[in-house]
Amino acid sequence: MKNTAVNTTSFVSTFVSGTVSAAAIVFTALVGSVQVFAQGDAAAGAEKITVCLACHGSDGNMSTLPNVPKIGGQTEKYLLKQMHDIKTGVRAAPLMTGMLNALNDQDMADVAAYYASQPLAQGAAEPEKVALGETLYRAGIAEIGAAACSACHSPNGEGLSSAGYPALSGQDPAYTELQLKAFRSGMRNNDDAEVMRSIAARLSDEEIAALASYVSGLR
Ligand code: HEC
Ligand code: HEC
Repeated sequence: MKNTAVNTTSFVSTFVSGTVSAAAIVFTALVGSVQVFAQGDAAAGAEKITVCLACHGSDGNMSTLPNVPKIGGQTEKYLLKQMHDIKTGVRAAPLMTGMLNALNDQDMADVAAYYASQPLAQGAAEPEKVALGETLYRAGIAEIGAAACSACHSPNGEGLSSAGYPALSGQDPAYTELQLKAFRSGMRNNDDAEVMRSIAARLSDEEIAALASYVSGLR
């Protein structure tokens, strides 16, 4: 746990120039509440995804259904936290209702390890949304002190597994947009220390749409 804190703090200060203090405060709050879960085994997880296939596919990146997130290559710790949050109702996800009931803590850790081991999807941003999306993603929102997304989700959008920060690159823009709006309205409130709610609260619809498109094309 100590190592995670040290690495991530220096990671954050490396990438947030103007907003180091805001990110550091948020970060300290997050480290204080990191949960400890079982170790996952990807090979064992591959045997436990039968009920997930219809929506997420075997590589986690099936894109036939709207608003089903791509979970292949997603950071492991994040996947596991979401599964716990969804199973216990801390995160509302109507289509996922009952899907995790047959999985115990070890099963969920194995499934998280399995999907994390799959390739991250690749998407493409709409050209007209890149300028605004990139500015917000990399520079943050200086006037209101919101940290740059890149500080936590990494410059190329791959997230930071050790800290439980999710990857955003390659994600379905419609899903990302929905999640940012859900954080903004408080419908989604499972983010520790309100880290995403406090940021999304400052974003307009236009900014959310630009960010969702921009991050889908990041790699
Ligand atoms: C009926 C379709 C369906 C099935 C089956 C399903 N899911 Fe999901 N899953 C969803 C949807 C839709 C969401 C997004 C919920 C939301 O809007 O917040 C989701 C979200 C998730 C997330 C959160 C992803 C993120 O980026 O935050 C994880 C992890 C996940 N599912 C894992 C699983 C696993 C593991 C299984 C099998 C045990 C499974 N799902 C079965 C539809 C499904
Ligand atoms: C201080 C760190 C931090 C910053 C800065 C940050 N995020 Fe996040 N973000 C997180 C964490 C942690 C989560 C996971 C919350 C949870 O546990 O559900 C998250 C979740 C998300 C999700 C949901 C992913 C999914 O698969 O459901 C999206 C989308 C997102 N962030 C976008 C952004 C954008 C866009 C910005 C910049 C405007 C941003 N974040 C800034 C830490 C951060």
